[in-house]
Amino acid sequence: MSERARDFLHLCWIAILEEVGNYYKEGNGIKYRNVQRRPGKYVAKEDGVWQRKRFGEDQEAFVLNAFVRHLGVMLADTDLWHPNWCEPEIIRGSSLNMPSLTESKFDSIVFSPPYANRFDYFESMKVELWFGGFVKEKTDLQELRKSSLRSHLSSDLARDQEEFETLEQLIELMDRSASSWRMGVPNLLRGYFSDIVEVLRHCRDKLDSGACYVVVGNSAFGGMIVPSDTLTAEAGLRAGFREADIWVTRHLTVAPQQRASLAGLEGFMRESVVVLRP
Ligand SMILES: C[S@@+](CC[C@H](N)C(=O)[O-])C[C@H]1O[C@@H](n2cnc3c(N)ncnc32)[C@H](O)[C@@H]1O
Repeated sequence: MSERARDFLHLCWIAILEEVGNYYKEGNGIKYRNVQRRPGKYVAKEDGVWQRKRFGEDQEAFVLNAFVRHLGVMLADTDLWHPNWCEPEIIRGSSLNMPSLTESKFDSIVFSPPYANRFDYFESMKVELWFGGFVKEKTDLQELRKSSLRSHLSSDLARDQEEFETLEQLIELMDRSASSWRMGVPNLLRGYFSDIVEVLRHCRDKLDSGACYVVVGNSAFGGMIVPSDTLTAEAGLRAGFREADIWVTRHLTVAPQQRASLAGLEGFMRESVVVLRP
């Protein structure tokens, strides 16, 4: 079997872990299927019973079926690949270190960064990271968290920050008694948009023509909307792009606990494609 085919199957295996495993993603983390939530506590489910209920009598067949079904989905996707994508080059590394990863120029760049919403993907994806072989020790996971883009509070918030006047004006509007203020969200936002400017500078260097498409969603903290789409557009101009457009694609719902403080601003909770042209 070629290395590429093996990688394809490995990716399929990682993609079905949640379906065939004893955990599921919820909120900002994972929950276990072998316990049941009761008011104020978790109660263990009877071993051997919950597994039969979820996976049926033949657990091996359950896993195999899930694998084959998902492989079908992945193969169907390949029909949509562009003919030029037959020889893709996959580079593993951080977008913050792009210059050291490749010397190639790109025709266009499409990406969706983590949103500025405090969501810690390293928590919710830790099973996939371990089973996928991306982390081998607990310290590897900590290292990844620290070096990642500053979208969550476990990243390295002490790294350098760029001045961003528009962001500072928005931070001024935040409710200082809100829990997000106490948790250090203003500093997180400063780190986040500094990282976005840095990534976009690298993207700018890689493009002579074409465009950079960034899919990003806005978020809300302390009674204030973080308009990540307009801030990303501004970050793009700062990074050296000549033109920025925002295509609003859909509206996001406001969490029930934020509805009162965001009354009248709900329209700004949206997901957009920011198009940056060199
Ligand atoms: C908004 S999702 C986009 C996912 C995918 N590109 C898509 O369009 O469905 C952001 C992705 O960035 C990665 N990610 C999450 N947190 C990160 C962080 N702090 N630093 C770098 N990458 C992160 C994860 O792979 C996550 O799925």
